Amino acid sequence: MAPHTPQRSGTPGEAGVPLYDGGIGNGFTPIMKASELAPGAMKWVVVDRERVLVANVEGVFYALRDACGHQGAPLSTGTLVGYVIECPLHFACFDARTGELLNGPVSADVPSYQVRVEGDTVYVKR
Ligand code: FES
Repeated sequence: MAPHTPQRSGTPGEAGVPLYDGGIGNGFTPIMKASELAPGAMKWVVVDRERVLVANVEGVFYALRDACGHQGAPLSTGTLVGYVIECPLHFACFDARTGELLNGPVSADVPSYQVRVEGDTVYVKR
């Protein structure tokens, strides 16, 4: 009889699939302390030489590319109301949870990134 070999499939985060092997890994980069960013606030950090916007939406952290889908203005210098980020330049609005363009001038969605929080550390995977 063959020894039992556990099989895993799916994507990290699904039932039965570990988020990390042996702690944080799998491409997640520690970027900040969760306690540094209050609910309703956002900031930018650099991950792999790219500006990444981190938003705290009612205690849940989200990460997006920190460049508007219109002309690239830094969204982190805009405003965050609920889950809506408004660009400071021409006021396009994006969903902080997904990067989806909600309204504004000719524009495009912005990429969003996976976020994990362990203890007081926020990790992002680009
Ligand atoms: Fe953001 Fe134009 S650069 S709306």
